[in-house]
Amino acid sequence: MSKKTIHLIAAARPNFMKIAPLCHALKKEPWAEPVIVHTGQHYDLNMSDAFFRDLNLPEPHIHLGVGSGTHGEQTGGVMIAYEKVLEESKPDLVVVVGDVNSTLACAITSAKLLIPVAHVEAGLRSFDRTMPEEINRIVTDSISDYLFTTCEDANENLRREGIPHEKIFFVGNVMIDSLLKHREKAKKSKILERLGLYRAESSRLKAESLNGSKAQLTDSLIKHYALVTMHRPSNVDEGETFRCILEALERISHDIPIIFPAHPRTRKQIDSFGLSDYFKDSTNNESRITGNGIYILDPLPYLDFLHLMTDAKCVLTDSGGIQEETTILGVPCLTLRKNTERPVTVTEGTNIIVGTNPKRILEGWFSIQRDGGKKGKIPNLWDGHAAKRIVDILMRRIKKNI
Ligand code: UD1
Repeated sequence: MSKKTIHLIAAARPNFMKIAPLCHALKKEPWAEPVIVHTGQHYDLNMSDAFFRDLNLPEPHIHLGVGSGTHGEQTGGVMIAYEKVLEESKPDLVVVVGDVNSTLACAITSAKLLIPVAHVEAGLRSFDRTMPEEINRIVTDSISDYLFTTCEDANENLRREGIPHEKIFFVGNVMIDSLLKHREKAKKSKILERLGLYRAESSRLKAESLNGSKAQLTDSLIKHYALVTMHRPSNVDEGETFRCILEALERISHDIPIIFPAHPRTRKQIDSFGLSDYFKDSTNNESRITGNGIYILDPLPYLDFLHLMTDAKCVLTDSGGIQEETTILGVPCLTLRKNTERPVTVTEGTNIIVGTNPKRILEGWFSIQRDGGKKGKIPNLWDGHAAKRIVDILMRRIKKNI
């Protein structure tokens, strides 16, 4: 059998950990030729290249270099550039992941050229069409040939939208494949030392060990910070909402230092809304945590961030993927949104949707302080083998059509 060329669309930060396990699994298959196509939606060193390095991904084979813009500019730019690539290289399959603008753009372009499309992480729905990602999810699912899902509610959403049963494959979660694979390696990250979090731990440990309660304190001190990420337009592009959330974070930071690696969009909005007074330090990622307060950092590479998440007392976020990762790590997560397209992280995992009202955010925090926060279980098939299941399904289908 001749090798089948499979394009893997990489575009934005949350895509890279989803394509990595697929790329590694496909490379082992004699019938498959995986080709990484980077659309350039994210382009900064710490939003893109650092992830390729941590995930051991090769340089993208094709780079579209589209960059930022309005939704129309970005989606249209990727479509125009990718159509040219498809006309020249005619792959056998295009795999898109997640819900970013490039996911939608590459799916449409391929479908119109009659190239089969596989959507990994299909069927997620927030039922909130003010969220650009919801539009991307609905359209991508409606034109994909293979819909690989992470959970039962996604299967149900797709069936309700009339997607034929034989196109839906419940395979588990490729992003969790990456997390489980890199969990041990992430423990070697030096981020806690760089931020001075271990330093705070050992000095307090010493003082306490005189009282003979060393073991108990080790645990509480390693977990003596909260981790925050925020970048959704609904939170950071609305000055009043952003300020309300920061008010709540400011109160939480009286109890515990807050580490806040900020997305470039968020950093820009802090400046434009004049919110920098909320932050204790906004210099660089080498800043030491010297007491309570909100510490803003540049975006972090994958392994550093995974290490910080693992040891956090809790995570507050508006990211989708982080709701899933904290569920696997057993770390309490407070989601700063009105809804989630990942309800399994609430029904089975450690996630609580607190929205953007300071009162509810603080209630969530006080409950974590009281009893350590929500305990969860691991959702079905989030076991590190999702990419292998996808590759096996593709192999069977592709062989049949030969
Ligand atoms: C995009 C995705 C979102 C995902 C997020 C993860 C869409 C609609 N949104 O949002 O679902 O959760 O990525 O980060 O696709 N910028 C830089 N450097 C970069 C990339 C972006 O400075 O490497 C700045 C630019 O000013 C840009 C802004 O961030 O205009 C937003 O980037 P964009 O890719 O449009 O959307 P995200 O907010 O990153």
